[in-house]
Amino acid sequence: MDFFNRSKAGERALLVQPHAPGADAADELAEFIELARSAGAQVLHTVNARVERPNPRFYLGSGKVDELAALRAQHDADLILVNRALGPVQERNLEAALKCRVVDRTGLILDIFAQRARTHEGKLQVELAQLRHLSTRLVRGWTHLERQRGGSIGLRGPGETQLELDRRMLADRVKALEARLEKVELQRHQSRRRRERGQLPVVTLVGYTNAGKSTLFNAVTGAGVYAADQLFATLDPTLRKLEGLASGPAILADTVGFVRDLPHDLVAAFRSTLSEVRDADVLLHVIDASDPDRDLRFDQVNEVLAEIGAADVPQVIVYNKIDLVEGALPRRERTDAGTTEQVWVSAMSGAGIPLLREALASVLGAERWHGSLHLPMDAGRLRARLFAAGVVQAETMDDGGWHLDIDAPRSLLSPLFGLSDGDGEWLRERLKFPELDTR
Ligand code: GTP
Repeated sequence: MDFFNRSKAGERALLVQPHAPGADAADELAEFIELARSAGAQVLHTVNARVERPNPRFYLGSGKVDELAALRAQHDADLILVNRALGPVQERNLEAALKCRVVDRTGLILDIFAQRARTHEGKLQVELAQLRHLSTRLVRGWTHLERQRGGSIGLRGPGETQLELDRRMLADRVKALEARLEKVELQRHQSRRRRERGQLPVVTLVGYTNAGKSTLFNAVTGAGVYAADQLFATLDPTLRKLEGLASGPAILADTVGFVRDLPHDLVAAFRSTLSEVRDADVLLHVIDASDPDRDLRFDQVNEVLAEIGAADVPQVIVYNKIDLVEGALPRRERTDAGTTEQVWVSAMSGAGIPLLREALASVLGAERWHGSLHLPMDAGRLRARLFAAGVVQAETMDDGGWHLDIDAPRSLLSPLFGLSDGDGEWLRERLKFPELDTR
């Protein structure tokens, strides 16, 4: 069922960029043009609109609406895109006044996600976000209708309106989708547990949209996945095994690109994608080195990471696209008082990729703990927890207790040693984790 088929490829679009008085919206507009093109729209003309206080009817001032109506006719546009989240009523009023479809920033981003979703889970998530977006619009229309008809009496039963049918259908569909997603998320969770048991550390690519994550994913793994010069080329995390690192094999996960003002519904719907980020051992934070706003983008991505609880995951910072930066050469360096690896590469030409693999191996090596633990007989609870966490490689037993070979990401071990009960304290004090002899 296609409830939300609003913006179609090749549509002739006028773009409206609202801005506060005196504010410079050039940067926002440039990004919006990219978004519109990503959705397949043909951008005919762009208009800045100074908005001091949003007009409740149109969001825009009525003079601007008149100007847009004229431009629409002049350019024969069939779509107007507004770079703000419009209220449902504002969207409807604009459509009526401009005699063409109006899509706001949220609708546009949802549309792009809908076109890009590739896996089953991604498609379900997008449909759910779209339906939620649409249902706020229907519900408001509904209360409006209720007011006209003087309350809800007489609106139920056989005299149902099409609107009520639509709304009920939407609610059913949302419920069914939620149930299916829950199941898919459970499966994903289980496969993550399997990876943990398999001991492979997970490296996740993050970065502002179009930074070059998918291209880098290819360059680092040598695999052929999809990369396109469009925003949001990847929607679902793609997993590949990363071989040949000095620290041993790892899993590399690609994720959806971040974008500022991501619609709230979408952030919620993409929780499982985002948990791929939160649960990673290391993040490769990819930055388009040729983007004049790269520092701003870097901060924006870090803000989203903090929002989803991934601020503490160690990062390797990757400045990509150095082929587009005058005089930039591949190099590896440390920042933040030597705690953070930073690498300059070109995913396209392959320059610097060996340096990136070295940096990654160094971080992964440091982030793993290999060692042998001797547990006395009375540490049975800790032993059970270590097994349950899947970090024990081998075990031998003698009269004094157990000898365990441990090999695991520190992120997995630390909580076990941080426990305040007897076992955790015992281990911390006697064995002085993490100063144990490592092999
Ligand atoms: P989203 O999935 O939208 O978040 O994008 P992404 O970060 O995965 O970017 P992707 O790999 O799709 O690359 C975006 C565009 O940048 C593509 O046109 C790539 O060819 C281009 N690109 C990626 N890496 C480089 C590079 O090192 N140099 C140059 N010149 N272009 C690159």
